[in-house]
Amino acid sequence: MKKVILTGDRPTGRLHIGHYAGSLKQRVTMQNSAEFDEIYIMIADAQALTDNADNPQKIRDNIINVALDYLSIGLDPEKSTIFIQSMVPQLTELTFYYMNLVTVARLSRNPTVKAEIQQRKFESSIPVGFFTYPISQAADITAFGASHVPVGEDQRPMLEQCREIVAKFNSIYGDTLIMPQIVLEQNRKAQRLPGTDGKAKMSKSIGNCIYLSDTKEEVYRKVMSMYTDPDHIKISDPGKVEGNTVFTYLDVFSKPEHFSMFLPEYDNLDSLKDHYRRGGLGDVKIKKFLAAVLEEELAPIRRRRAYYENNLPLVMEILKTGCKKAEKKAGQTLEKVRKAMKINYFDDNSLL
Ligand code: TRP
Repeated sequence: MKKVILTGDRPTGRLHIGHYAGSLKQRVTMQNSAEFDEIYIMIADAQALTDNADNPQKIRDNIINVALDYLSIGLDPEKSTIFIQSMVPQLTELTFYYMNLVTVARLSRNPTVKAEIQQRKFESSIPVGFFTYPISQAADITAFGASHVPVGEDQRPMLEQCREIVAKFNSIYGDTLIMPQIVLEQNRKAQRLPGTDGKAKMSKSIGNCIYLSDTKEEVYRKVMSMYTDPDHIKISDPGKVEGNTVFTYLDVFSKPEHFSMFLPEYDNLDSLKDHYRRGGLGDVKIKKFLAAVLEEELAPIRRRRAYYENNLPLVMEILKTGCKKAEKKAGQTLEKVRKAMKINYFDDNSLL
């Protein structure tokens, strides 16, 4: 069986290092593993509009931001097809057919949608499109015949719902759709990188994010003001490592070689943690180390971004080519779907 990746992000803002640690980095690794036959990376503008119908300019502005984020982390348009959801009308058609296979009760149980409805204070004014976006997400995944869907762990309910739709479709209409599997980042801490304030999750509205597009100075400033251990007041005080954002980030981003490069007086992260716990290690020192570690990761991303920012017409071309390729692939799936659903009336003369 072909190995196909599909994944994507809503273009509601620039992507941050929480996205990067939780999923984006893994996509690049998967892309470069050469294990996959086809890779589709989607800018989910139609999904973003399900709760931003009154703010189309925001979505429009972020198409290029997200495309730049993708290209700058090392997604290679030669290997990965980057495209925009709304440019592939087959996805909408497929969504409409899948709607018949899902109950309102089932949608109401989706925990991610439930949480989002609360966050957005929709209460009784939930847009229908928003409520049904898990169905459209199933259309995204299956239209490309995706076998693998690398996403953050908050997307697990979407994948479950998609798998149910695939099973139901295939049982009614015959074996047509590919059953996808979720691919999660293995490192649990990377799955849910806290914000710089130590709060549960990085979130644009709280303003606790480090963006992939931040300058070196911005990253440094954000790291220096990071939440650590509030009881670690004097350098000589013993400090807590658990729940200390700097150490959580070091768990996710530091590599053994970073110690010989930036902090040769420590052998590894464990010896740094031991010293912090004992007391005698100040926050400024661990923060400076973290800033250097993050810079190792972010500097190449920034360089690639600068290249594409100076070549925006090239970015447009990449998107246009990607959309065409994506539409072709989705069109092929829709042909199969229509046939399976017996709505391919003009394929031959059998209607007569
Ligand atoms: N729901 C995803 C997000 O919020 C975006 C998305 C839309 C997606 N369709 C998808 C992800 C299909 C994976 C597969 O970022």
